[in-house]
Amino acid sequence: MAMKAKATVFLFLCFLRLNTSLFRKHYYMKENMTWPNAQQYCRKNHDDLSTTSSVELDRLSANPKVVSDFYWIGLQRDAQSPTLWRWSGGENATNIMWDAGQPDSLHEKCVAVLKSNSKVHDSPCFLSIPFYCMEDFELILVQQENMWEEALEYCRQKYVDLAGLNSGVIMAVAKDKSTPALTDDVWIGLRFIAGYWFWVNGKNVVYKAWSEEDEPQCPAMNQRCGVYDRKKALWKPADCEQRLNFLCIKKSKSTPNESSN
Ligand SMILES: *[C@@H]1O[C@H](CO)[C@@H](O)[C@H](O)[C@H]1NC(C)=O
Ligand SMILES: *[C@@H]1O[C@H](CO)[C@@H](O)[C@H](O)[C@H]1NC(C)=O
Ligand SMILES: *[C@@H]1O[C@H](CO)[C@@H](O)[C@H](O)[C@H]1NC(C)=O
Repeated sequence: MAMKAKATVFLFLCFLRLNTSLFRKHYYMKENMTWPNAQQYCRKNHDDLSTTSSVELDRLSANPKVVSDFYWIGLQRDAQSPTLWRWSGGENATNIMWDAGQPDSLHEKCVAVLKSNSKVHDSPCFLSIPFYCMEDFELILVQQENMWEEALEYCRQKYVDLAGLNSGVIMAVAKDKSTPALTDDVWIGLRFIAGYWFWVNGKNVVYKAWSEEDEPQCPAMNQRCGVYDRKKALWKPADCEQRLNFLCIKKSKSTPNESSN
């Protein structure tokens, strides 16, 4: 069995806990593994096998890279009370999206998702199928005034990167997190180079939240870095040499054990 999963596909972000502005990323692993091996793999290379809400399941299933009928998530029977279900991180699972007639066998101790309807089935843990790993992240506001390049450097050295606000969910986190900022605008990881706006983490700008009607197609030479405008809660182009507070993305320290609330 190939223990090294090659295809790490970032898919999307979701809230974990609104109050702490944590969110999680899911990574699809196309390699076939048993549930315990998948769990081990995710804990070694990411945070854990994925914990998922029903909304997340719909989106995980919609990933075109998923070509198998089933994939693992981090849900299994509780070792002591086999009628209870527990996330890999230790949390009690509630509101489980069972498919009709499921769960159907006390011998099936792990949970797989049926791609076609995003409903879950109890399944034998030795099944070898693809799976999703997750990682927890959070946004951090840095209350120092730096030019865009300096902010980028600071985030990359201290955390992960300048924040990419590439969904409505993260925009809401950004609004909350940037409240104590000392500048009206804060730097985010948006940059215009060679005719395109892109996120510094390498992603294309798909979700858009520009303060103008359309994406600024040809910003002036001194308007090629992106800010989050706190008053409008939208993005706009700005002079890269302005000195502003900024939002970094930070790997959350929460370990599988700590995610039990
Ligand atoms: C996983 O297993 C399925 C079914 O046995 C097979 O078609 C597929 O090629 C396997 N995937 C990988 C990445 O080995
Ligand atoms: C999980 O659920 C069981 C049974 O309902 C309960 O006894 C236990 O205290 C719960 N654990 C947590 C961490 O909520
Ligand atoms: C969780 O915490 C317990 C005790 O604090 C420890 O024994 C166990 O190894 C931890 N498990 C993981 C997966 O970190």
